[in-house]
Amino acid sequence: MSKKSIYILGIESSCDDTSAAVLCNGKVLSNVVANQEIHTAYGGVVPELASRAHQQNIIPVVQQAIQKANIDKNQLKAIAFTQGPGLMGSLLVGTSFAKSFAIGLNVPLIAVNHMQAHILAHFIDEENHPKPPFPFLCLTISGGHTQIVKITDYFSMEILGATLDDAVGEAFDKSAKILGLPYPGGPLIDKYAQLGNPKAYQFTKPKVGKLAFSFSGLKTGILRFIQKGVAENSNFINENLNDICASIQYTIVEILMDKLKNAVKETGIKHIAIAGGVSANSEIRKVLKQAEKKYGWTTYIPKFEYTTDNAAMIAIAGYLSYQQGIFSSTDVVSKARMKVDE
Ligand code: KG4
Ligand code: ZN
Repeated sequence: MSKKSIYILGIESSCDDTSAAVLCNGKVLSNVVANQEIHTAYGGVVPELASRAHQQNIIPVVQQAIQKANIDKNQLKAIAFTQGPGLMGSLLVGTSFAKSFAIGLNVPLIAVNHMQAHILAHFIDEENHPKPPFPFLCLTISGGHTQIVKITDYFSMEILGATLDDAVGEAFDKSAKILGLPYPGGPLIDKYAQLGNPKAYQFTKPKVGKLAFSFSGLKTGILRFIQKGVAENSNFINENLNDICASIQYTIVEILMDKLKNAVKETGIKHIAIAGGVSANSEIRKVLKQAEKKYGWTTYIPKFEYTTDNAAMIAIAGYLSYQQGIFSSTDVVSKARMKVDE
């Protein structure tokens, strides 16, 4: 007898990407992401504009995801959506749509914690992507979060360390802004860094607790360094962009790796995953891979499309919930703040 096909629709709308995905038994059939270009002109996400764009995008994006998956909407077994954390107006659009759609189709609703979903993306069924065994550690690095999480089961997570101020994605984006690069600057720093010398300039690393992160001092250090360089040579940024980006990226990745090494030492766990938008960064991906030989770690690096915000990660979290019979009632509400262990 063939295995029953469990089709799950995932909806993600926590920040500035509207996304919908269909999974069948944990395999991705479609993962549609509509980026909102409108924010680039403002140098950051404008919440009000994000909510409006979600409202315009949500139906076409869901329609496309179902079409691409080549199924009929009546085959869906459940609707999973991002409950939080995120921008309230953005979350409300996805939450309200998910509720209406679930009621319309008469299928269960599953509220998903966005931070857990970034981590659970590692359980998407993909060829050549082994799933991490429990317990494992995950370095979750995004525009809003920087934390080391210990995962003992799909929905049992504990924060071992987190940032005391800025998230690492903000450190990338704010550094990029200082350099006059458009938002979001993280991917651009990565791009220019490929051509630069990572040891051209040195920046001071923060001195905080073993598993804690801090990036606000680094940002100030970079700002002062650039101001000084420009005062001496007005073309300083243009002439040295690649080296500046490579040095910033090198420092940030060193900070992340130092903390991971501390976490491995404290827990004895050597299965190490990364998740979140910044896990798209080529340097952290490279250095982590090298850590396999260097430190005897087994590393889990997500496929590029499951690093930044996407609905496939919401759908896999939904599928895992579905298998455990965990559903949400229709009076569930969006939450702007939500920890990974909630
Ligand atoms: O997870 P995500 O898509 O959204 C949040 O939940 O925050 O992460 C977005 C963050 C942004 O700060 C962006 O600049 C950063 O991820 N990012 C990168 C790269 N790609 C995305 N940072 C460094 N290098 C990259 N290649
Ligand atoms: Zn995210």
